[in-house]
Amino acid sequence: MKAPNAKQPDTLYTRLFAKLYDPVMEKLEARLLMDMRRSLLAHARGRVLEVGAGTGVNFPLYNKEAKVLAIEPAQAMAKQAESVLQGLGAPHIQLLEAGVGDAAVAAQLGEDTLDAVVSTLVLCTIPDLEQALQSFRQWLRPGGQLLVLEHIHDDRQPQRWIQSAVTPVWKHLAEGCYLNRRTDELLKDYGFEVVEEDYHYTRWVPFYTAVLRVG
Ligand SMILES: C[S@@+](CC[C@H](N)C(=O)[O-])C[C@H]1O[C@@H](n2cnc3c(N)ncnc32)[C@H](O)[C@@H]1O
Repeated sequence: MKAPNAKQPDTLYTRLFAKLYDPVMEKLEARLLMDMRRSLLAHARGRVLEVGAGTGVNFPLYNKEAKVLAIEPAQAMAKQAESVLQGLGAPHIQLLEAGVGDAAVAAQLGEDTLDAVVSTLVLCTIPDLEQALQSFRQWLRPGGQLLVLEHIHDDRQPQRWIQSAVTPVWKHLAEGCYLNRRTDELLKDYGFEVVEEDYHYTRWVPFYTAVLRVG
């Protein structure tokens, strides 16, 4: 049986999703997310794993001293990320078409080898979150950092109720994205310690950014 966090098949819908991703996100990126990404990625130093790189939106923001392995399991997303890489001419970033559960990723990373793992808008989508977080803990060196930017389940009403009600349909439309994960709490439950964290409430969805450390 195929591992849930491994590379998934390429379909017409995954290609359409990849094509629409940047145009759909454009306004939110300009208004909010790009600043959050920039502040977060200033912490990405040394040997870095970027999980679920998508269309490569973070690539221009990495410090050239960082040595980044970016993984992306969706072929259509990875293709777009590859063309961003070529445009940037960024030898400090290597792109691998794979998911966090693929053996090819584990083969590139040993235990305690990473200085940072970057996850932006990915933990809402990863099918087996527990497996992914265990892998991050294994690959991060002691004191290594997990850098996250994620939308999370609201604590306000009616937003909380709406996010739960919409998720069963939304997750099919948005390639497995759950609107009702309390990723901020889960990370702490899995033993990550907060170095710094911030919450930003838009009208419909709260965003969580954090620098966490392996405890
Ligand atoms: C909403 S997109 C976010 C893309 C990008 N990180 C960003 O900030 O815009 C979620 C991404 O997570 C990827 N993803 C899903 N499951 C994954 C897994 N098991 N391992 C790594 N990435 C995964 C998807 O293919 C998709 O590109």
